[in-house]
Amino acid sequence: MFLLLEKYATERWGLEAFEDVMDAATPRLVTRDPFVGPGSYPDADLVTLVDAAAAASGTIADDLLRDFGRFCFPPLLSRFPWALGGHDLPSFLCTLERTLQIDAQKLLPGVKTPSFRFRAEANRLRVEYRSPRRMCSLAEGLLEGAALHFGARLDLRKRACLHTGADACAWDGTVT
Ligand code: HEM
Repeated sequence: MFLLLEKYATERWGLEAFEDVMDAATPRLVTRDPFVGPGSYPDADLVTLVDAAAAASGTIADDLLRDFGRFCFPPLLSRFPWALGGHDLPSFLCTLERTLQIDAQKLLPGVKTPSFRFRAEANRLRVEYRSPRRMCSLAEGLLEGAALHFGARLDLRKRACLHTGADACAWDGTVT
């Protein structure tokens, strides 16, 4: 996630702007060393970096996380091509629900992936997301990125949110 955020910020705003974001965020980061690929870093640092990038770009942090999620989907799939099961968006998501946690653990021991429930019926989709990181805007962006990958359009309507005390974020979606 950290390296993808660097790639995202550099592509969106350029290297210099990204370095300004890092300079602004560094005093508030728990991590003292540079972020490297296989490392695992405190969630708080991701939040600090997103907040700094949002402030520097005049974006709302949730909007930035959603856009970042859309950006992340293609590179995630290139890194973990085995995760692409199913032939369309609903079947992909239902497969992912079963395999992601187990397979990600095998590949990246100790990594904490969120937990999802996907229910698909015709072109309707119900999604539930649970994670102590409460990054539902990132999840929305990733879902939209997945829809783009399958050439589909996904309209999501949020029914419940971890940020307002629900035990899961829940969306009703329509896939067209
Ligand atoms: C539409 C599909 C997907 C959604 C909605 C989704 C959502 C998320 C979210 C919201 C997070 C942030 C952490 C959290 O909330 O606890 C996350 C992390 C993660 N996801 Fe996904 N994801 C999707 C697809 C994938 C795929 C295809 C892979 C490939 C293996 C993947 C691997 C991971 C990993 C390894 C992390 C942990 C990253 C870290 O700790 O640095 N995800 N995902």
